[in-house]
Formats: sequence, C-alpha cells, structure tokens
Amino acid sequence: MKKNIFYLLITFVALIFSCSKDPVITISNNVIDTPAVLFNLNTPVGFPKINIPASNLLTVEGIALGRKLFYDPILSLDNTQSCGSCHNQKFAFTDSTLQFSKGITGEIGNRNAMPIMNLAWERAFFWDGGSATLEDQVIGPITNPIEMHETLPNVLRKLNADATYKKLFKRAFGSDSITTKHIMKAIAQFERTVISANSKYDKYVRGEVELTFDELKGMELIEDQTKGDCFHCHVLGSTFTDFDFKNNGLDSVFTDLGRYRVTLKETDKGKFKTPTLRNVELTAPYMHDGRFKTLEEVLEHYNTGFAENSPNLDVNIALGKKGRMSEIEKQQIISFLKTLTDYDFINNPNFKKP
Ligand code: HEC
Ligand code: HEC
Repeated sequence: MKKNIFYLLITFVALIFSCSKDPVITISNNVIDTPAVLFNLNTPVGFPKINIPASNLLTVEGIALGRKLFYDPILSLDNTQSCGSCHNQKFAFTDSTLQFSKGITGEIGNRNAMPIMNLAWERAFFWDGGSATLEDQVIGPITNPIEMHETLPNVLRKLNADATYKKLFKRAFGSDSITTKHIMKAIAQFERTVISANSKYDKYVRGEVELTFDELKGMELIEDQTKGDCFHCHVLGSTFTDFDFKNNGLDSVFTDLGRYRVTLKETDKGKFKTPTLRNVELTAPYMHDGRFKTLEEVLEHYNTGFAENSPNLDVNIALGKKGRMSEIEKQQIISFLKTLTDYDFINNPNFKKP
C-alpha cells in the first residue's frame, strides 16, 4: 500500500520534471534503485501482538544490516569482539556457560549475559531495565570499557571508511553518511526478528505433540500456589515473564542494587528483571550474577533457599512455605522447563553469522 503510494509519487515527480529542461530523472532512479522493502514480522500463535515502533519499521535491508553488524568485531576497539562473541546462538544467545563475560581487555563484568530472544515484547533492557528501548541498548556494550571498549566516533569512522557498509546503510536508510542512529536502528531491527516460538511446549499448545506425564505435572506445579507458584512472575503461556522487576529472595544484603540503580527508589533495591523461562535449559548459569549452575539449584532456591528477610522481597516468594516441593515435584518442574527448549531457534539459519 505504502509502496504503491511511493511509486505513484515518483511517477508524479518524474512527470513534472519530464516537462522541465533538467534531466533530474537520475535522482528518482537512485531512489527507485534503493527502496528498503518493509518486512512483515508475524506474531507467533498464542503470543501478544508485536508492536514495532513507527520510528524504526522493519525492512529486509535493515534486518540484514543489523545481523551483519551484530556479528562484526568492527564495533570493538581492537576489532576482536562482536555482540555475537558474548551472545552465542547455541546457548540461546547467552555467553556459553560463563558466569561473567570477558571484555576485550580480559576484564570481567558482574552480571551474567542475558539471552537475546523475544525482545520484541520486552519493555526494558538489561537486568535492571537500564535501557528503555532496544535501540538505546545498542550503545552500552559498544562503549562499555569492560565490553567492546570502543568510542562512537571511532566506530563511525571505521564504518564510513568501508565501501560495503556505505552501500548497505544507504540501502537500508537511504542516507549517504552512516550515523549512530542508523547503527542502533539496524541492530534493533535484527534483534526484534530473533524469536523463539517453536519449542516442544509451543507444538503442544498448537496440538502437534503430546507432553509426557512428568512434563504436564510440572506445568501444573508451576501454577499451583501451594507448590511451584512460579506463574505470578514467569507468566505461563507465551513470553513466560511479567515484564516486571521483582526481588526473588537471592540475598538479605545486596551487592548489586538492581532496579534501584535506575529509579533510585528504596522499594526497588534488589529487584531485577523477571527473565523469560524459554530455553532456560541452555542458558546456565542462572540469575543476574550467574550464581546457580543448574536448574536443580534454582529449584532448591525457590523451595528452601530464598532469604525471607530480604528487603522488598516479593509477596509471592514470602508466602511460599519452605520445603513445600518434594524431590519428584522439583524434577517434574524441571521436565516442564525443558519443553521450552527450541532447537529450531538455536539452529535458525536467519540468526547465524551471515
Ligand atoms: C562482553 C560481553 C558482551 C558483549 C560484547 C555484548 N553483550 Fe549484550 N549483554 C552482556 C551482558 C553481561 C548483559 C547483561 C548486562 C546487564 O544487565 O547489566 C547483556 C545484555 C544485553 C541485552 C539485554 C537483554 C534483555 O533481555 O534485557 C541485549 C539486548 C544485548 N546485551 C545486546 C547486545 C548487543 C546488540 C551487543 C553488541 C553491540 C552486545 N550485547 C554485546 C554481555 C555482552
Ligand atoms: C516473585 C517473582 C518470581 C517468582 C514467584 C519466581 N521467579 Fe524465577 N525469577 C524471578 C526473577 C526476578 C528472576 C531474576 C532474579 C535475579 O537474577 O536477580 C528469576 C530468575 C529465575 C531463573 C533464572 C533465569 C535466568 O535466565 O537466569 C529461573 C530458571 C527461574 N527464575 C525459575 C523459576 C521457577 C521454576 C519458579 C517457581 C518455582 C520461579 N522462578 C518463581 C522472579 C520470580
């Protein structure tokens, strides 16, 4: 529809100019040569509708460019590290089994790398939600001294000196000069397409496969308020998160203040973004600081380990009776969590290094 109007306009402009003496038709040709083609991102069955910001509509060229940038170490100071170095598709885009990622200088951070998956639905980014949009989020890792440690002017200089990138940015955004905004937009476009929605659980929801007895039991226990009681935060169904920030009782004294760092509200101390449970079998270690190596440890935390005296502890954790889950029940919950592993996602050729 939009494209039709666009071509109509071009024809109209060409018509006007065809009456004048100047053969400006070449300008229109340039535009016709390089229209970015809008990309229609389908909402998977059972998911809320995806809202793509009007200021950064998805295009085939924008997504392809974002994917190339995501995997290109050119964004780091010494050209050795890309986003993909810490966000590895095999591990649902987390950093293998590392507790903390290493930046280009070998320095480590204090937070566990988060998966890149189903971010089109998220409302804030990083463990503390420190970035309000996916576009803004892109700058953090590039300039962070313990990550890619590069400056934006330097990145722009490198990209603008690269003939291939000049061409690709021009195709995606129609501009001759590469800007920071374009980099942010392209990577965010790619990230929005990185969707996991074809796990065994999804196939079960679509009526394509059956779950085993233990898997079904695990799903029930997650919703059982006297047992797992996980669903208040890791909402069952599609995204497996409430998109909120909660204190799930990891500490009674905080070393990382979490959401408080962003809002400076006393009531946000020790709260972190509720992560999705999708592909959780592949994203160990767990929690913002990667303190738990296995899902068994995670379950034991919710069963007996949570700090009852933690400030701002979520009420649903506080109400949980310690020792409420048996060994078998914990295993059944884990069996269910493993149905959320999406092998098509981790092998999807569209998300691989181009
Ligand atoms: C050195 C390793 C490293 C590199 C390189 C890296 N990241 Fe990350 N990424 C992390 C860590 C660690 C976190 C969690 C940080 C936090 O919460 O403070 C994270 C978080 C994120 C998140 C937030 C996800 C969510 O659910 O909120 C996104 C998106 C992301 N990274 C994208 C990128 C992009 C894009 C690049 C490249 C421009 C990149 N990362 C480079 C380690 C890395
Ligand atoms: C009060 C909300 C809440 C409840 C209830 C809750 N969680 Fe969580 N969960 C969180 C938050 C918040 C985090 C991240 C905490 C952090 O890293 O500081 C988390 C982290 C996790 C992680 C680690 C994910 C990762 O990527 O590191 C797993 C696995 C998990 N929860 C499973 C469960 C299970 C299973 C239950 C039920 C037995 C449960 N949760 C109940 C809020 C909750």
